[in-house]
Amino acid sequence: MARARILVIDDEAAIRDSLRMTLEYEGYEFVGAATGQEGLSLADREAPDLVLLDVKMPGMDGLEVLDRLRSMNETLPVVVISGHGTISTAVEATKKGAIDFIEKPFASDRVLVSLRNALDQGRLRDENRSLKKAVEVRHQMIGDSAGLKQVMAAVGRAAPTNATVLIHGESGVGKELVARTIHRNSLRSRERFVQVNCAAIPEELIESELFGHEKGSFTGATEKQVGKFEQADRGTIFLDEVGDMSAKTQAKVLRVLQEGEVERLGSARTIKVDVRVIAATNKNLEEEIEKGRFREDLYFRLAVIPIYVPSLRERPEDIPLLVRHYVDYFSRENNVRQKRIAQAAIDALQRYRWKGNVRELRNTVERLIIMTTGDTIDTSDLPEIVRSSSLAGGSTVGAAPGTDSSRAGTLREFKDSAERAYLVAKLRENGWNISKTAEIIDTPRSNLYKKLEQYQISQETDG
Ligand SMILES: Nc1ncnc2c1ncn2[C@@H]1O[C@H](COP(=O)(O)OP(=O)(O)OP(=O)(O)O)[C@@H](O)[C@H]1O
Ligand SMILES: [Mg+2]
Repeated sequence: MARARILVIDDEAAIRDSLRMTLEYEGYEFVGAATGQEGLSLADREAPDLVLLDVKMPGMDGLEVLDRLRSMNETLPVVVISGHGTISTAVEATKKGAIDFIEKPFASDRVLVSLRNALDQGRLRDENRSLKKAVEVRHQMIGDSAGLKQVMAAVGRAAPTNATVLIHGESGVGKELVARTIHRNSLRSRERFVQVNCAAIPEELIESELFGHEKGSFTGATEKQVGKFEQADRGTIFLDEVGDMSAKTQAKVLRVLQEGEVERLGSARTIKVDVRVIAATNKNLEEEIEKGRFREDLYFRLAVIPIYVPSLRERPEDIPLLVRHYVDYFSRENNVRQKRIAQAAIDALQRYRWKGNVRELRNTVERLIIMTTGDTIDTSDLPEIVRSSSLAGGSTVGAAPGTDSSRAGTLREFKDSAERAYLVAKLRENGWNISKTAEIIDTPRSNLYKKLEQYQISQETDG
């Protein structure tokens, strides 16, 4: 490798000079800056391999410089030099992405060790960067609704612990994503995340899948199999669709949770396992318990930290963010030119009631990216069903004059939307004849007019 180029940003000339001597003696190329501003332009011009950055400087301070360096080049390694007793600043710098910090006054050896480590890490990071970035984007949780924020907060609380987590929510809301996010942010993140879909495995195979078996333990067991619990040792096991386990399997899983050990089928030997369990279900387990289909003791073991992931219909404000995210993502994924999406199309997608939740929305956007020939996705490109249901005036004035109780936050909002839906339905029934409608619903014509204005109802807005 060519000589590594180190940019030193420090307002003290004496420190710059001494670092220049040390670094050049060790064969590094030295670039010095006396202010944050100068440092930023040198970082841009000289493309250093690493930055040594003083925190306390007049003018633009080190933390701000660090922020800007990060936005210029997120992988440039930065080692922060902090004054004596400013350890809290150093901690903050590390949070902002500094790779190491050195306290003043420092010995040149300390600097050199830190540089070498940082450069090594930087190199490694460069190699992993594209790979990792792809993984991260794939596992990002998008959304800033109150509902999703609550989920994220719960994920944050659950992640560093070993507690069992039970994730509950409709199909396609992101339960698996939540489970993976917890694992990735846990102390076990370097160990395995083993997923078992309890609904997809036939009853007679699930036990051997979970706990393993010895060769010859049953007809067809021609080879020994290591169970998922053993595979997940030191890591996390994700029991997906846990509500679909048979009573017998439930009993065995409960035992693993209680004793921390498994037994392979056909073996009397118990094997200690250290596994964190995350479970998910779209069933209402309390109901299942009442019906005698799910063990209550297992439920309590699993639901140490319960996390409910709300349906997309309960958090429509997340839809525009998700749509934009997936437009970018699938444009890249499919190597098509980055497409844009018209605001009107986003609005229509936001009004649609996504029964299949994020998964359905995601699939719809992927199809749009592939099928739309132009650069911009417009309302006319949307699937018929999305277009027609969103034309119906925003609320669910479709086939049944129902109303969207999940979207109405307050009683007032609910009443309003119910009233609006009712009026539209009656007006339609009567061919938009106002006098006739007023008579039939037994309200003065003037009142009906007032309502039409209040709710902005007109025949034109009714698709
Ligand atoms: N908040 C989110 N941000 C970005 N992508 C999301 C989000 N929530 C879910 N997804 C994506 O939606 C798809 C469905 O999510 P996931 O598989 O986690 O749902 P699930 O609740 O496990 O569904 P099921 O019950 O059907 O198994 C995945 O591709 C996932 O990456
Ligand atoms: Mg799932």
